[in-house]
Amino acid sequence: MIDLTINEEIRKRNIERCKEKGIVFPTFAQMKDPSKIPAKIKERLKETGLWDIDPVNLFRISWRNEPKEQGGLHGNVNYIEIPKELTGVKARIFALVGKYFPTGSHKVGATYGCLAPALVTGAFDSTKQKAVWPSTGNYCRGGAYNSALLGCDSIAILPEEMSDERFSWLKKVAGEVIATPGCESNVKEIFDKCHELDEERGDDIVIFNQFDQMENYLWHYNVTGKAIEDFLTEEGVKSNQLKGYCSTTGSAGTIGAGDYLKQKYPELKLVAGEHFSVRHSSTTVLADIELKGLETNMFHGYIMSEIPI
Ligand SMILES: Cc1ncc(COP(=O)(O)O)c(C=O)c1O
Repeated sequence: MIDLTINEEIRKRNIERCKEKGIVFPTFAQMKDPSKIPAKIKERLKETGLWDIDPVNLFRISWRNEPKEQGGLHGNVNYIEIPKELTGVKARIFALVGKYFPTGSHKVGATYGCLAPALVTGAFDSTKQKAVWPSTGNYCRGGAYNSALLGCDSIAILPEEMSDERFSWLKKVAGEVIATPGCESNVKEIFDKCHELDEERGDDIVIFNQFDQMENYLWHYNVTGKAIEDFLTEEGVKSNQLKGYCSTTGSAGTIGAGDYLKQKYPELKLVAGEHFSVRHSSTTVLADIELKGLETNMFHGYIMSEIPI
């Protein structure tokens, strides 16, 4: 499903660089079950803030972060049940909470899922190349953040009308920040810039395009899928009660968790949602939407529902 061809020479260079910088990679098993994280790393997490640019925060790429700004470890999956008074329906509706990832968004997981295998195989050379992260915001923020943690140079590309908050944060984290014309809906312009960079810089860059990276899907299939399964088990939800998994799709990474759940709960229906005003087309640009701050990403749109018992 993904290309795991090893380039020994580059892989060796990446290993040396990681050793120099004291970078340790978390495994998928640790992201799913943080009790597997070594005690030495947990001690360091106790001294580290949730958003700090510190390689130890790679071990906070998990849905199970303690909801603390400083020194948190891991516990239950972060999710809420939305009260019936708000939903107006009898079905129970749960939402995963991505706010307690470093950067405040689950995209830090999807981008780790893309960059980590490229470093391990040697498809990306951290000593020579720059990782390019094109997106309207959270994916490029996650990509720039992971690049910094993993000792890689990065380029973030996002529309110029995204918030000042996003730009000023990125300027501190990414090597280069490129603003493209337009707003949240102007995805084509971001990829036009990627084509330009590809022509200008050739092998000096590697473009991690979330729309063609199966690694994005695989991270959600494994880590998000398991997190949902775990909290449903804690809630005592039975297979025949589980009716749907809804995901607002951007690059169709998060909906990959639905494939995992569908294998566990075959009767489950998958629902893809898209905001009315975000149509990613070269000819249609509808109104921009208010998804611009750093703190607007509380729920990520993952909703589980079951019929009442
Ligand atoms: C907060 C948030 N939720 C959901 C999505 C969509 O997820 P995906 O790109 O995995 O389909 C994105 C990005 O596109 C996002 O930033």
